[in-house]
Amino acid sequence: MADHVIAIDQGTTSTRAIIFDRRGRVVSSGQKEHEQILPRPGWVEHDPQEIWRNVQEVVGLALARANLTRHDLAAVGITNQRETAVVWDRHTGEPVHNAIVWQDTRTQPIVDRLAADGGVDRFADDVGLPLATYFSGTKVAWILENVEGARERAEAGDLLFGTPDTWVLWNLTGGPDGGVHATDVTNASRTLFMDLRTLAWRDDILAAFGVPRSMMPEIRSSSEVYGVARSSSLLRETPVAGILGDQQAATFGQVAFDQGESKNTYGTGNFLIFQTGEEIVRSRNGLLTTVGYQLGEEPARYALEGSIAVTGSLIQWLRDQLGVIRRSEDVEQLALSVEDNGGVYFVPAFSGLFAPYWRPDARGAIVGLTRFANKGHIARAALEATAFQSRDVLDAVVADAGVELAELKVDGGMTVNSALMQFQADVLGVPVVRPVVAETTALGAAYAAGLAVGMWSGLDELRENWREGARWEPTMDAAERDRMLRLWRKAVDTSMGWVD
Ligand code: G3P
Repeated sequence: MADHVIAIDQGTTSTRAIIFDRRGRVVSSGQKEHEQILPRPGWVEHDPQEIWRNVQEVVGLALARANLTRHDLAAVGITNQRETAVVWDRHTGEPVHNAIVWQDTRTQPIVDRLAADGGVDRFADDVGLPLATYFSGTKVAWILENVEGARERAEAGDLLFGTPDTWVLWNLTGGPDGGVHATDVTNASRTLFMDLRTLAWRDDILAAFGVPRSMMPEIRSSSEVYGVARSSSLLRETPVAGILGDQQAATFGQVAFDQGESKNTYGTGNFLIFQTGEEIVRSRNGLLTTVGYQLGEEPARYALEGSIAVTGSLIQWLRDQLGVIRRSEDVEQLALSVEDNGGVYFVPAFSGLFAPYWRPDARGAIVGLTRFANKGHIARAALEATAFQSRDVLDAVVADAGVELAELKVDGGMTVNSALMQFQADVLGVPVVRPVVAETTALGAAYAAGLAVGMWSGLDELRENWREGARWEPTMDAAERDRMLRLWRKAVDTSMGWVD
């Protein structure tokens, strides 16, 4: 019997395929980076065709490394960088423009225009999000307004829109020959177009953005059979049965299913998700309201989210733009080459500041420099920025939810950095805990897919798979923590107001 599931994780910097067994253990994986296309300051694009080629390649790698074939796979799950927008021709499969990535800030004029009538929270009550460049809606609008002929083709019904889950699903299930054009509720909740209560597109909001309804994918649950992989693919006839945006997938992979459960993922950015169950909670402290997951016909589960745009990508910036490290993992050693941050604070507001500040006018700032500061201090300040930003978001969660967190479950690439995890525990004043399987994003998508085809019996069976892998206890004294937080917040203030 097929008792493995393959998850395709289409992330911001790379695409991965991971095969899991029934116990939720990694059997094999394949990974490939794609180009970050940076045409102008603030613009970030991906080539959708390159991404689709990479999906096929990494699936082949994962299958070959496990010595498995599609007959061993019960289902395919998809998880993805959220909000990134692709628009393509439904007849040829050709994108009309590169994908506009979630980090891209080119749509600020569209945000300003829409906010002129009712402010940035104009649609927040219905969709859970403020108007911001981050979300896909502004990116589709930009493509329709700026790519020659796109609006006419869209209005004629020839163009389709999708986030990367939709792009992968459509191609995987047939492309122009009957590909399934769908997304799940978690991804749909990041567009600015979905009503959180009805889980349906809002015609009035689509009209305000000038986006034709015919471009929009069908909204489905996170765990059901959407279609089967096309016969010409390595996965032929395997049911595609789970879709979750990557942050919701990581939460699901951490088995944080219930109200009050949470996780923090350390990727290119950091994303803290706090489940609020069937209740739609509005934040008063700069968090987003989003869908956590929906299993088939069951009611949707909602969540509060603190999204931080730049954490891991700051380490890539130290590597690629400053050249102070050769490999990302070298940052830990460089940061530990100095005793402390030497008074240096680094606010990586490269895409403005996201949660809990939502300040598009902020830009990156390194403050507190003296002649004494060296590259070790800058590396240290860069790492510490990840922990400080997570603390700011956690404070917002505590204020909104009215409960203290007993510990923080973490996952993602940067959690291999023990110095950072210790500092995170110190800055929060609560233990930080990482599971044995740190690939929680792919695991969450695999779980959603496996549940839909009956490979797992239910959430209780998944809960039993979770095992603690590492734990960091806070050791810093409270006075020192408060002093550092005070300086960090002064640095954050300094970063604001740089764009007129
Ligand atoms: O909201 C953006 C997020 O989904 C991107 O995640 O892990 O690809 O950086 P990641």
